[in-house]
Amino acid sequence: MMMPVLLSLPLLVFLPLPVLAQDIQYTLQHNVTTIYGTWSSGSQNVVTGAGFAQPANMSFIYPKTTGMSYSFTSDGYYEIARYRMNGNGTSPNCITGVMNWCHGTYELVSNGSITMTPFGDGYQQIQDPCAAISNFMETYNDTELYVQWSIYQDPTLGYMLQLYQFDGSPLPPMAQLSTSPNMLPTQALRNVSAATSVLGQRSCDLRSVDIEAPVLGVGLLTLNPLQ
Ligand SMILES: *[C@@H]1O[C@H](CO)[C@@H](O)[C@H](O)[C@H]1NC(C)=O
Ligand SMILES: *[C@@H]1O[C@H](CO)[C@@H](O)[C@H](O)[C@H]1NC(C)=O
Ligand SMILES: *[C@@H]1O[C@H](CO)[C@@H](O)[C@H](O)[C@H]1NC(C)=O
Ligand SMILES: *[C@@H]1O[C@H](CO)[C@@H](O)[C@H](O)[C@H]1NC(C)=O
Ligand SMILES: *[C@@H]1O[C@H](CO)[C@@H](O)[C@H](O)[C@H]1NC(C)=O
Ligand SMILES: *[C@@H]1O[C@H](CO)[C@@H](O)[C@H](O)[C@H]1NC(C)=O
Repeated sequence: MMMPVLLSLPLLVFLPLPVLAQDIQYTLQHNVTTIYGTWSSGSQNVVTGAGFAQPANMSFIYPKTTGMSYSFTSDGYYEIARYRMNGNGTSPNCITGVMNWCHGTYELVSNGSITMTPFGDGYQQIQDPCAAISNFMETYNDTELYVQWSIYQDPTLGYMLQLYQFDGSPLPPMAQLSTSPNMLPTQALRNVSAATSVLGQRSCDLRSVDIEAPVLGVGLLTLNPLQ
């Protein structure tokens, strides 16, 4: 009987996980429930779906507080909503805000990672009061790799999803809001061509390139919404 042995092992949740290169085994140590549904961090004001993003006109509905939300269907679709702020200790007035939305298809890879491949209609707004261009919208179409994931049960918050980014750093844990995902339609929701993409603006604001990945990984700061 394997279970007692497995349950006596320390929880995987807070280990530096990229070490685990062998194929994943979905034991109760790894996930006490399936990943399907909608998950949200912190005070859970950021939630995927129609309450966050309006892709047809590339607009956002700003949540009350920062946070992130991921949704997964049982047939391979994901959606991400993120509202992040990156404080700057050197220049306290230079807080960078990012509103980010994307969706596409995901795969639970046998080595324990998750790959997320976007449809191409994702977008993000970056506000950086100290940059040459202080507020702009751009297409966001990055393929994302999460090197490990686990789901555990918190005594008060219930099921929690822990994702580890491409570099092994953990994201804030997210509580399960629902087992059926709250998502926009799982197909491209606006036409993106080279002409409509505003990626060219990045070259005017090199810092936005630098902050794009790190901002999404910093701890939560609860600040006023972006204008
Ligand atoms: C796991 O598989 C993904 C997708 O093929 C790959 O990108 C990643 O590097 C692999 N991780 C490890 C630890 O081998
Ligand atoms: C854990 O995740 C795997 C892969 O999605 C799934 O097959 C399994 O049912 C999950 N375990 C539980 C207890 O839900
Ligand atoms: C975008 O479209 C939604 C309806 O889908 C509308 O409510 C909203 O006002 C529009 N926003 C902008 C900035 O045009
Ligand atoms: C903080 O702001 C200063 C002044 O704008 C800038 O030089 C520095 O690169 C910023 N640091 C980070 C981590 O963004
Ligand atoms: C978005 O990224 C995916 C995956 O790399 C790619 O297949 C697709 O062509 C990209 N779409 C756009 C509009 O760049
Ligand atoms: C994209 O453009 C095509 C051709 O103009 C149109 O039929 C389609 O409805 C558009 N899709 C979206 C999501 O706007």
